[in-house]
Amino acid sequence: MTESMEQYIRSLVEKSVQGVLADGTINSSRRKLVIGNWKMNMSIEESALLFEGLRGEEQACDVAVCPPFPLLYPVKVMLAQFQDSIALGAQNMHWAEKGAHTGEVSAAMLKELDCRYVILGHSERRQAGETDEEVNLKVKQALAAGIQPVLCVGETKDEREQGRSGEVVVSQLHAGLDGVEDVSSAVVAYEPVWAIGTGLAATPEQAQDVHRTIRETLANQYGASAASGVPLLYGGSVKPDNALSLAVMDDIDGALVGGASLNAVDFKGVIDGFTRG
Ligand code: PGA
Repeated sequence: MTESMEQYIRSLVEKSVQGVLADGTINSSRRKLVIGNWKMNMSIEESALLFEGLRGEEQACDVAVCPPFPLLYPVKVMLAQFQDSIALGAQNMHWAEKGAHTGEVSAAMLKELDCRYVILGHSERRQAGETDEEVNLKVKQALAAGIQPVLCVGETKDEREQGRSGEVVVSQLHAGLDGVEDVSSAVVAYEPVWAIGTGLAATPEQAQDVHRTIRETLANQYGASAASGVPLLYGGSVKPDNALSLAVMDDIDGALVGGASLNAVDFKGVIDGFTRG
């Protein structure tokens, strides 16, 4: 990045410096986790505006944002103002360590930018051809690099109508975690495909039902104590007005938020719901 680009980012950040969020050092073991998935949205300037709107509030909730690759570095610079209370994540990575993979990004590259999370197996990527086997290789590579994989699982509308939600999710979970011995750094996101970007969120009961299945599956494989430590996020049309009702469910530990993570008012609303839930 040229010096002038870095200055530009810093000048956007410095436009209003009052009321920085509270420190992020509070013990996170019982805190909810809200991750914003920006998908292929946002510019440098829009990112700065979003963070300007997030300032000045104490969060009792862990928060992360996953910008597109070109925005990772600018956003990393902007996040310094939040003293680590908002973490950085990426939306994908390649499973290989390095090499001839044009257009791809490695775990080491994400780690160098301090990415704490990487979303893996999102349904939009599965629809573009990503297989369970590839997702599994990526999960293992992320863990090896010290990045927390956010493993996405979820059924389609047809699969739900056939009563196969649990079966599909368990199979994706087993495949995604195949060969993973220590699950303590993993995050699982239940994202029913029919609820993503449709405004038609799962009801809290529908989501809780699948989350319990995920928790039980993890408990069978890794033991109850390890399973209870894995954050299970719900994703799919999470908005300020449904966040609290989802957050109060026993096995819903947070949210993976698409559309509502792109502006400060909605993202704050969701964070607020999960902080209270
Ligand atoms: P949405 O997306 O909140 O816009 O439905 C969620 C996601 O795909 O992660």
